[in-house]
Amino acid sequence: MKGKFIVFEGIDGSGTTTQIQLIEKLLKDRGVKVHRTAEPTGGVLGSLIRQILNRRLVTLDGASIDPKVTALLFAADRVDHIQNEITPYIEKGITVLSDRYDLSSFVYQGLFTGDVNWVKEINRYAIEPDLLIYLDIDGDSAFERISNNRVFLDAYEKKELLNSYSKLYKKEFEQYRGKNRVQIDGKLTQDEIFNIIKEKIDKLLF
Ligand code: TYD
Repeated sequence: MKGKFIVFEGIDGSGTTTQIQLIEKLLKDRGVKVHRTAEPTGGVLGSLIRQILNRRLVTLDGASIDPKVTALLFAADRVDHIQNEITPYIEKGITVLSDRYDLSSFVYQGLFTGDVNWVKEINRYAIEPDLLIYLDIDGDSAFERISNNRVFLDAYEKKELLNSYSKLYKKEFEQYRGKNRVQIDGKLTQDEIFNIIKEKIDKLLF
């Protein structure tokens, strides 16, 4: 039997990374074969993207890379991720958990390019997840968490931006093509969120 493809999404500070790690451990403890991954990936394209996000990679004039270029790189990283990592694992019967996927592009690249329809078009070959888990949190609460936990704030992690991302996430989540999706209040406790996710995953896997 094929493995399932489960995606975790939410703005920075929403808690996706904590939850994906907890779910990975739970499934492993239960003997489910699982592979955890993330986007941007740790591969060549993902590294390029991280350098752009950190502004270590700029144009010859020292300007920021055009958001359309970044959007295409995210889409390319995703196609590569699907072909060379996600699909092979699923085919082997291994469940894949991904920290972020195409919904992130619809939100961030949609906003930065001002053309979400084009962003959706370049992501047309992204396979549909079997389950999308979206942790919904407002920008102010996410900002509090980020500033408590991290020393550095990257360019994305500014409060007012987080609030616009949060609103866009809600909107794009509602329109998302994958039917099996769940929105969870990111302000619930870690345990409460974990239990809701666990229930959803149990339905999918068992
Ligand atoms: P993130 O998950 O925050 O990685 P890390 O915790 O290692 O920094 O991802 C880095 C950033 O990439 C994040 O702020 C959101 C952004 N991003 C996009 O803009 N578009 C995308 O399609 C994806 C997958 C991520």
